[in-house]
Amino acid sequence: MKKQIEISVRHLSFRYGTHEVLKDINLDVYKGDYLAIIGPNGGGKTTFTKLLLGLLTPNEGEIRIFGKSVLEARREIGYLPQYINFNMDMPINVFDIVLQGRLTPHKLFYSAHDRKIALAQMEKMRIVHLRHRKIKELSGGQRQRVLLARALAKEPKILILDEPTASIDPDGQKEIYALLKNLPQTKIIVSHDIQVLFEGVNRVAHINKTLYLHENIDTTIQRDEGHFCEMELLDYIKSHSCSN
Ligand SMILES: Nc1ncnc2c1ncn2[C@@H]1O[C@H](COP(=O)(O)OP(=O)(O)O)[C@@H](O)[C@H]1O
Ligand SMILES: [Mg+2]
Repeated sequence: MKKQIEISVRHLSFRYGTHEVLKDINLDVYKGDYLAIIGPNGGGKTTFTKLLLGLLTPNEGEIRIFGKSVLEARREIGYLPQYINFNMDMPINVFDIVLQGRLTPHKLFYSAHDRKIALAQMEKMRIVHLRHRKIKELSGGQRQRVLLARALAKEPKILILDEPTASIDPDGQKEIYALLKNLPQTKIIVSHDIQVLFEGVNRVAHINKTLYLHENIDTTIQRDEGHFCEMELLDYIKSHSCSN
């Protein structure tokens, strides 16, 4: 069966002023893909996700999502940005934050249906017991699961997650990766930590101004005891030539 393309990026270039950050990027993302985007700090990963969301506009090239422009497709995408400036003194609780995922431009009140969906996503992210807590009372991992539940409450077809496990302790990271793996959406996860390659992704894009794609990553090179060696991984990737 032919794979269905959901995101198509063609000859995309982007500059901040005269600083060229992305150059001639081409990528197709298929329905059900779990794509990891890795690469060095400053390589352009966050910029790329912002272009996918229409928060930035390409200097050259085109992005189509479900055959539509990024702005038209935005409602189909759940997004977890890399940096969120939370006002820690916000009086609202976890349930209120997740409900925000149900907001649309003209909505004044949340319906019973909205509450039901928000609650279902909280169950998925295992945070129902935290529903009355304030954001400042949560650990980093719990906070990320709240934000994931909010992104899911939108019922998106695609999830874009920018460094969702950065600055979370290892156990919290494992939990988030395990939860993500089971989500049916098409997923794009940005990380500068190559552990992400062992968490169920099926494709890997490396972005450092240009994009190189590695398909069918073999995660069996992770040893049984859970240890993996970055040198083995680099050898493995080197032995599989880049596809563009
Ligand atoms: N708003 C901005 N204005 C100017 N330059 C920026 C801006 N945001 C990022 N940059 C620069 O663009 C490059 C890519 O940044 P970014 O996309 O955040 O990379 P990554 O997410 O891979 O660390 C970096 O050199 C960064 O300094
Ligand atoms: Mg970034």
